[in-house]
Amino acid sequence: MKQTYPIAPEEEVLKVLGGRSDFDPFYVFSELREKGAVRPIPMQVGDADQQTWIVTQLDEVKKVLKDQSLFCVDPSNINEDNSIKQSLTNTTDDTGSQLFLANSLNALDEPDHRRLRRLVSKVFTPKYMENLRPTVQEIADELLEQVQDKGEMDIVTDYAYKLPIKVISYMVGVPASQQEQIYQWSEAIATGLGVGRLDDEVKESLASFTEYFTQLIAEKRKQPANDLISELISLEEDGDKLDEKELLSLVQLLIFAGHETTTNLISTGTLILLDHPDQLEMLKKDKSLISNAVEELLRYHGPSTTAGPRYAKKDLVLGGQTIKKGDVLFPLLKSANRDGNVYSDSEELDLTRDVKRHVAFGQGVHMCLGAPLARLEGDIAFTTLLERMPDIQLSIPRGDIKWQFKLAAQGLSSLPVTFK
Ligand code: HEM
Repeated sequence: MKQTYPIAPEEEVLKVLGGRSDFDPFYVFSELREKGAVRPIPMQVGDADQQTWIVTQLDEVKKVLKDQSLFCVDPSNINEDNSIKQSLTNTTDDTGSQLFLANSLNALDEPDHRRLRRLVSKVFTPKYMENLRPTVQEIADELLEQVQDKGEMDIVTDYAYKLPIKVISYMVGVPASQQEQIYQWSEAIATGLGVGRLDDEVKESLASFTEYFTQLIAEKRKQPANDLISELISLEEDGDKLDEKELLSLVQLLIFAGHETTTNLISTGTLILLDHPDQLEMLKKDKSLISNAVEELLRYHGPSTTAGPRYAKKDLVLGGQTIKKGDVLFPLLKSANRDGNVYSDSEELDLTRDVKRHVAFGQGVHMCLGAPLARLEGDIAFTTLLERMPDIQLSIPRGDIKWQFKLAAQGLSSLPVTFK
């Protein structure tokens, strides 16, 4: 059905990015794609003469994410000062630049990024993640065991949020007793941060979060254990090691990036399945479809609305638009994944679709480090849920479902269901 909003989609998308829009974001994205692959938006990130753009179609999004000769993630590689990075979070003090999100892998260009990612990839291998399978399965079983006899649960709070935070905490080496606290801090940080937004409460949680991990790393130095922090500490290649700051921001990034997004994959994914009863039936009958279903759920409504901003390193033409050196581009992953030029019936969910080309995990050198883990968690979460509670049903009217928006991820605040 045609929706109309009082303002242009280029303005509405600002509210979508900031989590303030009341409209269906996919409708806004489809209007934007119709208008072009690259659209200017009225958002000032850098100086007044630096235009901000959104990139809406798949080919152009991939180009921006992959072509490092034309685009970078760190604005100081364009300009000498880092004024652009700070104004992204609208802050005049140095909190913005202290954000681990602004200092870690995701915010570094070559050659620093290559060096850090190569070091981390030595530990963070697909095999390492596959070895976590029994632990992830155990956690999923335990969580559902706790609610099985009640006949009802909230998919978000009882399952989707607990599973990833438990997995990533276990992996990193956070003791079980402190996991809830970690979750509270990272929730506060994620909730208070948006594109163009850094709420005051974020600073307090950020300080506690940083202090906690500084101490934990110091403890692991004294007493190494069988966990990722200890492995990262001992990591060394050709005389190269992670320094203290790199270690801290990396561990924080892993905790942060490792649960919010996966929570949304599980909770939003469950809602989407409930919205498509025929496809849910098909999945229950043939669980071998689940890994493909996870890919289609990531394409159809992946957790990340946009990749991090990219900066043009030179004047160029993209999607018919003239982009100037220093301009800022937001690659809209959710929009690219519904590009009708690439996917047939792109606005439809098809769990049997061959969907290898989606960009829900980004693309190029910054492509999600945790993608194999997220896929593993998604696979186990849906398989275990459908095996144990095959007849789950929504227990509130569909219209009462509430969405919330954190950082660049849109998720559900609650998803109450019943089962026999
Ligand atoms: C469904 C779950 C997930 C989604 C949708 C997702 C999405 C993304 C996206 C889109 C990027 C690229 C951002 C950009 O290019 O600006 C990214 C990067 C990253 N993700 Fe994920 N992620 C997920 C789960 C995870 C998990 C479980 C971990 C860690 C255990 C993780 C760790 C990272 C890291 C470290 C990066 C930065 C990589 C780099 O810059 O080299 N993510 N993720």
